[in-house]
Amino acid sequence: MTKRVRVRELQQMRDRGKPITMLTAYDYPTAQMADDAEIPILLVGDTLGMVVLGYDSTVPVTVEDMIHHGKAVRRGAHRAHVVVDMPFGSYQLGWQDALRNATRIMQETGCDSVKLEGGQRSVETVQHLVEAGIPVMGHIGLTPQSVNTTSGFRVQGKTPRDAVHLITDAKALVEAGAYAIVLELVPTALAQMITQRVNVPTIGIGAGPFCSGQVQVWHDILGLYEELKPKHARRFVELGADIRQALTAYRDEVAAGAFPTADESFYMDEHALELIKAQLPELDGDLSDAERVLAEHDLKLIARASETAETPSGVSARQR
Ligand code: KIV
Repeated sequence: MTKRVRVRELQQMRDRGKPITMLTAYDYPTAQMADDAEIPILLVGDTLGMVVLGYDSTVPVTVEDMIHHGKAVRRGAHRAHVVVDMPFGSYQLGWQDALRNATRIMQETGCDSVKLEGGQRSVETVQHLVEAGIPVMGHIGLTPQSVNTTSGFRVQGKTPRDAVHLITDAKALVEAGAYAIVLELVPTALAQMITQRVNVPTIGIGAGPFCSGQVQVWHDILGLYEELKPKHARRFVELGADIRQALTAYRDEVAAGAFPTADESFYMDEHALELIKAQLPELDGDLSDAERVLAEHDLKLIARASETAETPSGVSARQR
């Protein structure tokens, strides 16, 4: 059986200076592919709202959304450490409410940990979750759930005051028991300073190369969206263009009668076909007689199959 990546292994990777890769995943196939690629952490991010559900921010995403997608990711990922984001409104009302929601997310998805946004403002919650046995990943810098109060998706910590604030946030999260911290849209030098000052993995996104690891959004690195090209994301393939081309080809081939071909179709037993053709006049009227004849034919086929110990038409269960 494949061994699941736990918090301990992530800490060991950080301690050995082995960069940690984390990627978002939102459903069964994305999780399965990322797991096959041996990506150690899969984040069921609330970016779900933007890249999968079509909202213009992460704010509308609900606990139910996260659980629905978290379950699918867990089914696809046997080895990866699966982190599920706590969505907006699921932990801001007090630690008791946060604990209730985090417990639901852990129990119903089977994930390994949760992530929540905020530094000092989230410390009390992190503490209670960790005490209850729920591993928590912190998230500071740009915190997209606060986009309405932080005036958009901007790099954070550029002034000395903001930078000190972020360092203090990171230390407070570690003190509260966070096992890792995402640094989003933070200048490289500041991310490096934070990484040097905390003893847990830092996972950067738009935070330069000196973090303990990197996280990216599935759709960004695979080039799925034309209109969404964040500066911090490298497009390792242009899948969006390939998919559009494939869809157009599919439409054209159907329209031209070129799909499906004989190779892409299934055939039935010759005798069965003859019998059906013989019954065609009845098939337009009372079906009972035709059904009786066909049922007798099926019985004969079954008898023949049990004699030869083969399926009647020689095709696999999937083909049938
Ligand atoms: O929701 C998400 O995908 C995230 C990453 C951007 C870190 O939080």
